[in-house]
Amino acid sequence: MSIRRLPPELINRIAAGEVVERPASALKELVENALDAGAGQVSVRLSAGGLELIEVADDGCGMAPAEMRLALERHATSKLPDEAIERVASFGFRGEALPSIASVSRLMIESRVRGSDGWRIEIDHGRPVGEGPAALPPGTRIQISGLFDKVPARRKFLRSPRSEYAACLDTVKRLAMARSDVAFTLEHDGRRVLTLQPSEAPARVAELLSHELDRHGVGIDCERDGLRLTGVISLPTFNRGVADQQFLFVNSRPVKDRLLVGALRAAYRDLIARDRHPIAALFLDVPFEEVDVNVHPAKTEVRFRDPSAVRGLIVRGLRRALDEESQRSAAREQAAAPVMWTTSATYDRHLNREPLPDARTWDQALAAAGHVLAESRSFFDHAPAARAEPAVEAVPTYPLGVARGQVAATYIVAEAEDGLVIVDQHAAHERLVLERMRAAREGGSVARQALLIPEVVELEEPDCDRLESAAAELGEMGLELERFGPTSILVRSFPAALGKTDIAALLTDLSAEIVDLGGPLSLRDKLDHVAATIACHGSVRAGRVLSVAEMNALLREMEVTPRSGQCNHGRPTWVKLGHGEIEKLFGRR
Ligand SMILES: Nc1ncnc2c1ncn2[C@@H]1O[C@H](COP(=O)(O)OP(=O)(O)OP(=O)(O)O)[C@@H](O)[C@H]1O
Ligand SMILES: [Mg+2]
Repeated sequence: MSIRRLPPELINRIAAGEVVERPASALKELVENALDAGAGQVSVRLSAGGLELIEVADDGCGMAPAEMRLALERHATSKLPDEAIERVASFGFRGEALPSIASVSRLMIESRVRGSDGWRIEIDHGRPVGEGPAALPPGTRIQISGLFDKVPARRKFLRSPRSEYAACLDTVKRLAMARSDVAFTLEHDGRRVLTLQPSEAPARVAELLSHELDRHGVGIDCERDGLRLTGVISLPTFNRGVADQQFLFVNSRPVKDRLLVGALRAAYRDLIARDRHPIAALFLDVPFEEVDVNVHPAKTEVRFRDPSAVRGLIVRGLRRALDEESQRSAAREQAAAPVMWTTSATYDRHLNREPLPDARTWDQALAAAGHVLAESRSFFDHAPAARAEPAVEAVPTYPLGVARGQVAATYIVAEAEDGLVIVDQHAAHERLVLERMRAAREGGSVARQALLIPEVVELEEPDCDRLESAAAELGEMGLELERFGPTSILVRSFPAALGKTDIAALLTDLSAEIVDLGGPLSLRDKLDHVAATIACHGSVRAGRVLSVAEMNALLREMEVTPRSGQCNHGRPTWVKLGHGEIEKLFGRR
């Protein structure tokens, strides 16, 4: 075996493999260069999703001809004046983007420094093929065509123009959010898709994210130990099936960092279903010495000196903001409904006050009523059945009103001072049980209900293995279990908050939950997850007939419980139809 030095062209092509994966990554490098050059206006033109042409023009500092030649050489950069890579503030610093792109495409640079003439250099797959004078305003214009035309291995991985365009648009949006002070335009196949004037970050973000976020968004601004987090996130009820609307920035650099994405996810844990995703634009500012940006060839990941401080700030900051907004569930507009069902502002005001003095808990009410409740009757068994209470009480002053009846043994109908409230009894109770378990756990006093005769549950062996491995955590939540044989588990006690429950079904769900939680979650996060699964089991099912006392107890407990506006899966637990809206329905307004 003989060792030899690789020729520069091959070195560049290898580097291109890391830096340039698809048109969007080449576009990202060009726009970053334009921003680093101090541009006030960046104009992007694409054909066929960038597969045919990518053009980026800026009004930045420009380059003299000799600098242009140097820029195309590997490891040539103007961005580390004092070689302090720890304090780099520019997007670029590796000095390899241009030569890499030039090695796998046809590239033309035109550039002009203010006060001198313009110059043009053309490169074909790494080889200079021409240069000469160029007419252009001060700044730089770069065109890339035929990306990967001569690299079949790469070409194969490119997708349709449509999806390459989607990736390019995402890239432009991210950089435009990072630098709201710069004007951007984007043109695709001759059509203008974006025109952004210079503005402040919140306005820029609002322009680029779903407009619905004005109504369904929560502003973030928190600071701790020199770390600052600002931005906007969606209410849990306003979520998406894909995580494509999460824009994260560290010191104004767009990143797709796992730690940050994980922290965002953790903040919504048990507020949103596992397969749904929040919308977010979050800007994290940290001192330079706290973060290393030189860990990823495309610079989309960073490394923090103290990852847990960053994670803590994000999870706690977002969680607090969501809690403050927790009773505002995103009301859905139903296409056929002539009015919007909205949550009430008066309710929000009640949230921050002390528990109502006469508030009875759900458990107390159940015991007092001494009811044997009909479990598990389906929605349809009850379809037209509704019970109503005569409206004897004086004008109700509770935010969620006084229960007037139950519809289809699933929904509680209540009369409030300012409108009609409908509560999904299962969703609401599930949230209450979860919050109660969480409070008990934080107070270190999980009430457990011991079984007189321990119950043996038969399960598949891997399920038993998983439950056994999590026995300590589960014990902390009041669920005491031990291995009883290869395929059985012995349960000694379970959380008292659950009431009567199907232990075998609970264990099966928990074991599935533990597989999903295999990843790098903190113990606390795992416990929250487990608590949510347990809570779902302990909740009043839809189809259960409730007495008026029980319904009122549920309403009163909701009023004093944090996050009771949405269930553990992010759906609203209640909606309100205001008097004004009722009047509109009947044409009285
Ligand atoms: N649009 C532009 N306007 C002015 N100068 C530019 C422009 N694009 C590139 N340059 C110059 O060319 C040099 C090389 O660019 P290149 O993108 O290859 O490397 P870099 O930006 O320094 O580092 P990185 O590889 O991390 O992006 C830059 O350092 C800069 O001096
Ligand atoms: Mg660069």
